Amino acid sequence: MDLKGRDFLKLLDFTTEEIEYLVDLAADLKDKKKRGIPVDTFRGKNVALIFEKTSTRTRCSFEVAAHDLGMGTTYLDPSGSQIGKKESIADTARVLSGMFEGIEYRGYGQEIVEELAKYAKVPVWNGLTNEFHPTQMLADLLTIKEHFGYMKGIKLTYMGDARYNMANSLMVTCAKMGMHFTACTSPKYFPDAKLVEECKAIAATTGATITLTDDVMAGTKDVDVIYTDVWVSMGEPDEVWAERIHDLLPYQVNKAAMDNAGDKAIFLHCLPAFHDLDTKIGKDIQERFGISEMEVTDEVFESEKSLVFEEAENRMHTIKAVMAATL
Ligand code: CP
Ligand code: NVA
Repeated sequence: MDLKGRDFLKLLDFTTEEIEYLVDLAADLKDKKKRGIPVDTFRGKNVALIFEKTSTRTRCSFEVAAHDLGMGTTYLDPSGSQIGKKESIADTARVLSGMFEGIEYRGYGQEIVEELAKYAKVPVWNGLTNEFHPTQMLADLLTIKEHFGYMKGIKLTYMGDARYNMANSLMVTCAKMGMHFTACTSPKYFPDAKLVEECKAIAATTGATITLTDDVMAGTKDVDVIYTDVWVSMGEPDEVWAERIHDLLPYQVNKAAMDNAGDKAIFLHCLPAFHDLDTKIGKDIQERFGISEMEVTDEVFESEKSLVFEEAENRMHTIKAVMAATL
């Protein structure tokens, strides 16, 4: 498998075999790290990490992974560079290509990271856009493979706002990997019809299925993975909270949903999650709307079925695999 020089912008651009290869490479790199075997063969290389939105996991994963591989990193924060204000994406791409061997980009529209990749002469990795979050997908697949031992045939149900980066990416991932994807939410929050059709066409070749339902009990019955994400994503206005809470509270991941899932079912969440009052936004929402938990109850989040912290750790191992494979 040779992915050298490839961009990593969305999983739609990769074959089933290429995705499997990246997950297996991540498992191997994780094993080596746990056994204290260094893989620092990328010494002398440098990567640029552009974040136009905030991050804990993705930033730390790119930095730690790059350092483990022997590389240097430069972090460009949401306000501290010329990008988008005084300098175009095309010019930024060409400037950074002269100094770095790879560029990570987190920001708004998918077209921005695609534009960056078009003009960059080095691999570009998507660290999240409004539409897709492909590095998160590899971490989720690794977590699923570690728990179940396989990926093909896994039934994954996504609850919540299924129109955004996480549900889009999970639907594509399931289609590519022969997994069964269900978006279980209010029809207003179903994924984009065009992407659904594209995924159904891929699914027809891999044995995957794509289902949209607003019935919680039907959507969670005997599934292997229940997945959710925040109801309001980065970059969305504060005003949407009231409507989201009203519409999505019936699709909160709670004990009844988990109990309805399969015996070995797990709970996954890309994080950060609103499951208690220990955050500023959590407290603010409770004062305004009187609820103390949002997309997932604290009971499920803290339960043994919840693998969210294993999943978060796997961000680092999988991002390391993406950089190692494409550089
Ligand atoms: N899951 C995820 O991308 O987390 P961060 O926003 O902290 O990077
Ligand atoms: N949908 C979320 C994902 C965060 C990892 C957001 O875009 O804010």
